[in-house]
Amino acid sequence: MGDMTAGIRSVFLDERDAQEGQTIAFPWILRELNFNGKIRALDVGAGGFVGKNTTIHLLEVLGADVVAIELDGPRASALRDAYPGINVIQGDINEYEYEEGPFDLIVSDLDSSLVSLTMTKLLNPFAANLKIGGYFITLIVYDLAAYRGENPLLAASGEKRQAEFLREFYGTTRVGVDTARRALRDSQLRVIGIIDKFLGHHARGLGVGWLVTQKVRD
Ligand SMILES: C[S@@+](CC[C@H](N)C(=O)[O-])C[C@H]1O[C@@H](n2cnc3c(N)ncnc32)[C@H](O)[C@@H]1O
Repeated sequence: MGDMTAGIRSVFLDERDAQEGQTIAFPWILRELNFNGKIRALDVGAGGFVGKNTTIHLLEVLGADVVAIELDGPRASALRDAYPGINVIQGDINEYEYEEGPFDLIVSDLDSSLVSLTMTKLLNPFAANLKIGGYFITLIVYDLAAYRGENPLLAASGEKRQAEFLREFYGTTRVGVDTARRALRDSQLRVIGIIDKFLGHHARGLGVGWLVTQKVRD
């Protein structure tokens, strides 16, 4: 796969890839992954923008069999209506029993206030339900200062907790690939890269990105 480790800003993304409401980094990442044949993907927190961030790309770029988990009832229904071919499960990812697994790819696009939950509680079950060589991609806040600067309301809502989590989990509020690798060194997942979620739309990043990892051991 392409080298995602060179740095957050080093990736060129073409804005023409983006449609309204979409972030362009995600389809670019999917095109970089190595998959053979039909894949099965778990799309966690899929309904927030009726699949425009994640689901549509899992279908269009990868042609994946998609299992989508969405907590909110109306959002789950809207997702089902928009993509009749996918399996939408309305429920809490914390209660999910992974009966549809194992997966080739798990994507977690939970709200940024839930990133700490993803990394502390969900990382192990996600890794356990991935095939070896499969990928786990999750939204992270990688730079608290950039995140705060761009969107004060969003940041104010959970900044203290976010800062505490970043310091505790990574030892810093500005996370890079090496820091993420250290934080995940005892897990089954190898960090491949961190890609800014909104790169291409903004002159600088918003401190929110996709952490891309691969399962390397049982
Ligand atoms: C940022 S949105 C996701 C956008 C989505 N990937 C898309 O392409 O439209 C986050 C979603 O996660 C859902 N969510 C929050 N907590 C959840 C949980 N515990 N289990 C499942 N979904 C959850 C929210 O209801 C929200 O719709």
